Amino acid sequence: MYQERRRELLRKIPSGLVLLAANYPAPRNYAAACYPFRQDSTFLYYTGIKRPACYLVLDTQSGQEFLAGEEAGPEDIIWSGSTPGLAELAEQAGIGHILSLGDLQDTVRRVIQSGGTVHYLDPYSGERKLRLSEMVDIPVAQLASRASQLLAQAVIEQRQIKTREELLEIEQALNKATGPMHRLAMQLAQPGRYEYELVAAMQSRVAAQQMQWAYPPICSIRGEVLHNETHTNCLQEGQLLLVDAGAESPLGYASDITRTTPVGGRFSMLQREIYEIVLRAQQTAMEAIAPGIPFRDAHFRAARALTEGLIQLGLMKGSADEAVGAGAHTLFFMHGIGHMMGLDVHDMEDLGTHRVGFDREVQPVAQFGTANLRLGKRLETGYVVTVEPGIYFNPVLINQWQAERKWEAFINYSKLSRYEGFGGIRIEDNVTVTPTGHKLLGHPIPKTIADIERMVQEAGEKK
Ligand code: GLY
Ligand code: MN
Ligand code: MN
Repeated sequence: MYQERRRELLRKIPSGLVLLAANYPAPRNYAAACYPFRQDSTFLYYTGIKRPACYLVLDTQSGQEFLAGEEAGPEDIIWSGSTPGLAELAEQAGIGHILSLGDLQDTVRRVIQSGGTVHYLDPYSGERKLRLSEMVDIPVAQLASRASQLLAQAVIEQRQIKTREELLEIEQALNKATGPMHRLAMQLAQPGRYEYELVAAMQSRVAAQQMQWAYPPICSIRGEVLHNETHTNCLQEGQLLLVDAGAESPLGYASDITRTTPVGGRFSMLQREIYEIVLRAQQTAMEAIAPGIPFRDAHFRAARALTEGLIQLGLMKGSADEAVGAGAHTLFFMHGIGHMMGLDVHDMEDLGTHRVGFDREVQPVAQFGTANLRLGKRLETGYVVTVEPGIYFNPVLINQWQAERKWEAFINYSKLSRYEGFGGIRIEDNVTVTPTGHKLLGHPIPKTIADIERMVQEAGEKK
């Protein structure tokens, strides 16, 4: 599989040397105390190798492939145990040759001196920038502008279409860890519990599958703070708990699910009304997902559905189309309807959102809120995307817009005071694009009001 992926990549790069870097250990507070290591996703995609500090080198002329790195020394073995040697790793990945980093440096120099191209991807970590800068003799400040657009484009074209094996990995993460941990969080959404207790319980489900988080989990009664990563609050009856959490499969594939649950198990009327709007918007967006349809259309369909619902409730007014055109809905829905997902939760974001999510036909939208839409281009069979509408009541944003009298023609500010402390509701699922439409990935996770209330209430009664 890895050999075939590399062969396919080489078909798109006519000349030069392809240099793909692994990640380096990332220190937390001193050099020997590191964050859990996560391999670079592109390196992982083409090699399956999880070892840090090495390079995959592809010679487009000869077709020869190299794994470059340093062998572990006695000190490494004493402190970290024996690890497979480079030759063994290369063999497992079907890579024909190994190189020391010194020999790689000489090879790269020779290519550059003879006027050849070294194709590399713009690195996202400081350590990789420094090392690559030295390797290719390009100042750090120029690495981004001289990175290979051809290589980035070729990698995206390949990685964006998920194979059966990749879909199975995602479903494994969903079914073995992510689904169960969301059910568990619903059961634990009881008054008196702390957010961190729920995170700990979910974490144990992830660890028990030998998986890790695909991204830092969100578990918060302040769901209006979009990437709220603090978990210090005590849950109180009637509050809305937003949990956005996903496990990463053993091969590194993400899952990304959000559910919003009423603490204690009963949605209030106010919450119920907003929840139903978000759920309908998700359904509306999902129905739009099919090959050839721009994902931007799914976004705006959801935005219109949310706006229509808010107009019916009296929080917004006027024409839904005009309100969405103006961007008035972004007071409540200030992110995109979804993104690609794969080896990264925001798949390939390091290769540039403008390349991954957009093209000549569908360009990013500059509007506040909608600018966060990471995917707009036409969908193709094999894409995996998230569908994640939300409605949030962010007091800071509401106060700011109200003071500016922004979009007064579309927003009933006087009605918003009832929603103080409401938080936010997001519902997120993962789907793959099929020849005839789309398919939900993983077993369904409770999502209707009745199903969620039942999960929480039954657990509450058992206590
Ligand atoms: N969990 C990050 C996101 O939903 O985009
Ligand atoms: Mn997401
Ligand atoms: Mn998410």
